[in-house]
Amino acid sequence: MSAAEYAPSDPSLEVNPERRRMLTGVVTTVGAVGVGFAAVPFIESLLPSASAVAGGAPVEIDIGGLAPGQMLTVTWRKRPVWVLHRTEAQLAVLPALNSQLKDPMSREPQQAPDLPNWNPVQRSVKPEFLVAVGICTHLGCIPKYRPQPGSVSPGWRGGFFCPCHGSRYDLAGRVMDGSPAPLNLPVLPYYYKDTRTIIAGEMANGADQNWQPSGW
Ligand code: FES
Repeated sequence: MSAAEYAPSDPSLEVNPERRRMLTGVVTTVGAVGVGFAAVPFIESLLPSASAVAGGAPVEIDIGGLAPGQMLTVTWRKRPVWVLHRTEAQLAVLPALNSQLKDPMSREPQQAPDLPNWNPVQRSVKPEFLVAVGICTHLGCIPKYRPQPGSVSPGWRGGFFCPCHGSRYDLAGRVMDGSPAPLNLPVLPYYYKDTRTIIAGEMANGADQNWQPSGW
């Protein structure tokens, strides 16, 4: 049959092209909203919780195989977190560097509050393990671990050197005078789950998941 055979005799039944466009648009919009509502629970089930997004999920770090002098790197909040197993000799150097540092006693809020057994010179919970965020506080480059004395400058006692603009940090992450970086490296919240396991990104009681140092 041709279209003409379906032409209604009553003008009120004639199809109005403008009205058809409008109805089609309404159905399309409702359909899209329906899909949206149906999809939201599914998508939400794939996403981390809001607090995890805001604070960064804590990370578990196995330090069992980390020998003195070695350092490992994990990722937390998309940033590198270092764990450095400092030797007795490396620890012994730290107090002698105080007069060459911008913030030797860690007075700036570059570390999580309430870290147990906190020592502002060693900047750690246990003396031998430094746990710090490896992001230069100048413009965000990643400093290099340079433990060998003299490897950066004649008086170098070992530390971290930022290749971007030459900032220098000691092996506690304390920034040295003359560096463009203004602040010590951040020490994030962490605790020891057992003798070989560190949980970084929160305190033992679950606190401080949203902690941030200055400049973030
Ligand atoms: S970003 Fe490290 S010195 Fe500039």
